Amino acid sequence: MTDSVLPRPRTSIILVAAGSGTRLAAGGPKAFVGIDEHSILHHALSGVLAGPLAQIVVVVPADRIGDARTEVDALAGARRDLIRIVAGGSTRQQSVSAGLAAVWPDVEFVLVHDAARALTPPDVFARVVAALEDGRDAVLPVLPVVDTLKRVDGQDVVEAVDRSVLASAQTPQGFRRAVLLAALAEATEDHTDDAAAVQAAGHPVTTVAGDERSFKITTPADLDRARSLLGHARAEGAEEAAALPRVGIGTDVHAFGGEGTLWLAGVEWPGEQALHGHSDGDAVAHAIVDAVLAAAGLGDIGEHFGIDQPQYAGAHAAAFLARTRHLVESAGFRIGNVSVQVQARRPRFATRRAEAERVLTAALGAPVSVSATTTDGLGFTGTGEGVAAFAVALVHPV
Ligand code: CTP
Ligand code: MG
Repeated sequence: MTDSVLPRPRTSIILVAAGSGTRLAAGGPKAFVGIDEHSILHHALSGVLAGPLAQIVVVVPADRIGDARTEVDALAGARRDLIRIVAGGSTRQQSVSAGLAAVWPDVEFVLVHDAARALTPPDVFARVVAALEDGRDAVLPVLPVVDTLKRVDGQDVVEAVDRSVLASAQTPQGFRRAVLLAALAEATEDHTDDAAAVQAAGHPVTTVAGDERSFKITTPADLDRARSLLGHARAEGAEEAAALPRVGIGTDVHAFGGEGTLWLAGVEWPGEQALHGHSDGDAVAHAIVDAVLAAAGLGDIGEHFGIDQPQYAGAHAAAFLARTRHLVESAGFRIGNVSVQVQARRPRFATRRAEAERVLTAALGAPVSVSATTTDGLGFTGTGEGVAAFAVALVHPV
């Protein structure tokens, strides 16, 4: 069956974006200021979406919830249901608390991230989550301090400060949910970051490596730095990405027990038992669709051919593959080839393999090779309860 239900994540990421941006002085709330054609919030959110699977709570000024919804809808795709948008408070800590109140109750880990650190790479999120999974209560990404530091009193230098014992704190900061909740509930002062509140509550905080690109956009000079980083990345990335082919994988399983005759690999098999499914149950065609969509980064079969689309009830491979080709070509790709393997005790493919390849190739507009195997009587394919198919697809950007 093709089912695109997402697993319920163990982690929530609170993206705080409710600040006013006084120091940036761009005439409106900082998160909605453009870096390039996209806002700080847009970049921050796409970084969060590229990290580990998590519930995401976006905290914005109360009067910008509608704008935030527009950004979320433009980016989230199938993950839309994992995202909540709530109104923030007048301090960062209040905004974090507002976000925390919207976190699912069964979540174990909470990461708090400044939207102003819009260019944070996904691996920073992964490092923080890994340390939490390792059993840490509180995790802080840091960078070593590079400048020579002095303690001053007005105009006068009092003494040099040993920078080797200092680090600069970044976000996302990660916590066991209960630890953060308790620390914020008992906080008597307003902390500028969450690790400070957790430390004040007596919990040890562990560091992991931060990243230069995680700098916080605070002043107009920071905004210029973000603009120039994005400009360079685009110039370098565009050429490379455009030239590279992309692969995708797809699998599908259907049980025997459908109505009528069997349709598999795009051909009809008179006298064979039909497969069960919303469409004709053609697991081979469905695996190909998933592989091709995945290669183009276009989601999966449930998104484009779900049971809410009545035109695909009872549809055969040709309809699925022609639409897939259209979707992928509209997104700027050409299909290179597809290789699909079917695992089934019946039907016997030996005499009809070439025919199946011809039909699938014609429908997809790219070479499809089909191979078939039995599984030595093992598993559900071996006992003949159903069939499984596995496909790999290659697409080229055009
Ligand atoms: N933040 C928030 N709610 C607040 C204050 C800050 O959600 N009441 C968020 C900001 O949106 C930002 C992060 O906390 O993503 C870090 O704060 P900061 O860089 O200080 O942003 P601002 O408070 O907006 O800027 P400024 O201090 O210059 O006004
Ligand atoms: Mg601030």
